[in-house]
Amino acid sequence: MIPLNFEPVVHFFNELDSTNSKLKELALMGAPEGTLIVAKKQTQGRGRLARSWHSPEGGFYASVLLYPLVPKRITDLPFLVGVAVTQTLQQVLPKSLEVSLKWPNDVLVNKKKIAGILSEAFGENEFYGAIVGVGININTPSKELEAFQKNAFQATSVAALTEGENLPIEEVLNIFKVKLFNLYRLYQEKGFVPIHTLWEKNCKMMGKKIQVRDVEPRGETIEGILWGLSDRGGMVVENAKKEKVEIISGELACCWY
Ligand code: BTN
Repeated sequence: MIPLNFEPVVHFFNELDSTNSKLKELALMGAPEGTLIVAKKQTQGRGRLARSWHSPEGGFYASVLLYPLVPKRITDLPFLVGVAVTQTLQQVLPKSLEVSLKWPNDVLVNKKKIAGILSEAFGENEFYGAIVGVGININTPSKELEAFQKNAFQATSVAALTEGENLPIEEVLNIFKVKLFNLYRLYQEKGFVPIHTLWEKNCKMMGKKIQVRDVEPRGETIEGILWGLSDRGGMVVENAKKEKVEIISGELACCWY
């Protein structure tokens, strides 16, 4: 069990290919649970669905090593980390800005993507765990985001939203660490239910019309009303026939909210 006021081991790097890859190396050498890796920039940052994650200096790139034994459901972890990122952004951004989770693991501010999460399982037995990587556009210059303005959810950064204000990465890390391990302790004590509740509370798309590309189980585009998160982290959508369908893996393509 992670103790109160847990202080994780944090490794800082000026540059890495990917914080997830580096943490995997350390995990294989026996790094303890909670180990964090932070890099100023990444040369081969990785995203979900085999995409890359553009990682110039100014962003927050971190990965954490977790071995959840009770409950042993590593698929819960990216949702937990998504809530931690949301709470971190809510603390550092002006209250007038709307922070929202977007299924499965993105964080939006004022409907634009500011953060993504990549969770990778590895190991076995009691060392069956996850490396959960977080990328947040903090002081990322606007020109670095230009290539992502055609995405369904355009990219943004803290700097772009606050007229270039500089937010120290260490401050983001300190807040994120506290939020993350408080949530992880809550998860260890009470399981996924409170995380699930917090996730839905911080998803401003709940009850709104959405379009989702379903990778699993159907492989089609589904339109409907976002009903909520299933108890295994799928997205439940109510379709035009008023049926509730669960999407286990996929991507939200559009939301009218
Ligand atoms: C996504 O939205 O597709 C997920 C992006 C995850 C990016 C982070 S940055 C830190 C960590 N290291 C990586 O290579 N990827 C994750």
